[in-house]
Parts: sequence; structure tokens; C-alpha cells
Amino acid sequence: MKVIIRNNSHEGSLWTAHYIADRINEKAARTSDPFVLGLCTGSTPIETYAELIRMVGAGEVSFRNVISFNMDEYVGLPVEHPESYHSFMHRYLFDHIDEPAENIHILDGNAPDLAAECEAYEKAIVKAGGFDLFLGGIGEDGHIAFNEPFSSLESRTRVVTLTQDTREVNARFFDGDPSKVPAQALSVGVATVLSAREVVILAFGSKKARALASAIEGPMSHYCTVSALQGHPFGTIVCDEDAIGEVKVNSYRYFKAVEAAENA
Ligand code: GLP
Repeated sequence: MKVIIRNNSHEGSLWTAHYIADRINEKAARTSDPFVLGLCTGSTPIETYAELIRMVGAGEVSFRNVISFNMDEYVGLPVEHPESYHSFMHRYLFDHIDEPAENIHILDGNAPDLAAECEAYEKAIVKAGGFDLFLGGIGEDGHIAFNEPFSSLESRTRVVTLTQDTREVNARFFDGDPSKVPAQALSVGVATVLSAREVVILAFGSKKARALASAIEGPMSHYCTVSALQGHPFGTIVCDEDAIGEVKVNSYRYFKAVEAAENA
């Protein structure tokens, strides 16, 4: 695992947007196959998306040949609800870039048969060619997508029940009332994320520091599902100084040394 540490979330977001754009451009230069991108919601990726929007506008990257799949969606929340992940993604990314509408995939949390919806999602990912890159964030308990503690590290897309902690954290988007946060969601599994050829995880701010330390220095465990990144051959965490604050000083120094050596 590689850990990229930037001074603040702004610098981390710029680094990430340019990294994703470079990956898209690099694939476009060698093949006409689409770039398959996994995407996340939350406050964390918003600035990365803003920079990608700027880059598309400036002609520095194009999403015309990108196929995207989002990580998760609430169950039972109307698509047009401002806090649905459908609304979020259109507001912060899709309405402002050139990705064709038919290339955008977001789980339908109102599907009549949720299990069938999840199965079809996994098949669509395979049919698209599998993920080139999966961009994710983490919850304060180290969950990736909505893979709460005790999700199997072998899990695939399925219906999940949110923890009370997650509902309380996400209540800020629902009038501060945890009971208004849907109790369930559809989420790609840990194994779905890890099936990507490359995984990039964002973590900004001190609220993520304990989860990040567990993910980096703790055991690989279903208690902190992002720790499964330890088993991935091409996993990168992009964080800021606040989010990396709970790791050992020597771990911190090593990540800085790796980056310095690679840029030398
Ligand atoms: C939700 C999403 C996760 C996201 C997390 C963190 O739980 N399902 O995918 O990583 O929120 O959100 P934020 O970036 O707002 O801290």
C-alpha cells in the first residue's frame, strides 16, 4: 500500500483529480477500450470532482469513454431526494462533465427486487471489463462504501444494514435526525472494490485518523473494512496531515520517504 500525504484536503484533492485524469488519458492513448471507474459520494471527494470538472472544461481530460459505477445508494430514498446518491453525483459531477448518460451506473435502491439489482450490477461491472480504478472514501469506523464493521472481506454487491453510528454521522444531511437516514443501503462489497486493478482511497480530517491508523497499521479485519486494502497489489491512500495523525511517527516518515524516493 502506498500512502500519499498532503498538507490539507485541497492539495490531496488536486493530487487525486490529476492522478485520475492521468490514468484516463494514459489508457485512452493506448486503447479504445473504455476506462471503467468506481466512484464514491460523501463530502470527501467533492473537491476532487470539482477539479475534474475544471479539467474537462479546460480540455485536459474527457469522460466520453469512461464508464462509471457508483459504490452505493440508500434503500427506499426517492432518486430525486436531494440526499440520494443519484442526486449527489449529478450535482457534484455528472451534470458538469461529458460522460454519456448511458455510461453512468448507480444502484437503484428502489428496485422491486433488490437482490436481483445487486446481481445485475456485478454482472454489468464484469461486462464493462472490470474496474481500472476505484475511488473510495471511508467512514469514521473505517467502512468502505457501506461495508460496515463485520462485512465479509469477500462480500459482493448486496443489501446492507447501516450501523447506528453511520446513521448518526450521516444525519447531518437529514435535518440532523438519525431516524431520517435510511436504515439500509445497497453497496458494492469489499471484494467488488478489491477486484479493481487499482484502488485509491481518500481520507481527510482528524475524524478519519483512527480509522486510517487501523487500516494502515492494524490487522486486516472485517472490523475495519478498508483494512482489506492491505491485500491489494495496487492500493493507494491519499490523506492530509490531520487524517494521518494517529499512525506511528516511523510509519509517517516511511511514507514520506517512499514518495521522496519515487519523485527523486
Ligand atoms: C458514507 C458513504 C461512504 C463515504 C462515507 C464518508 O458512509 N457510503 O462511501 O466514504 O460516507 O463520507 P464523508 O466523505 O462525508 O466523510
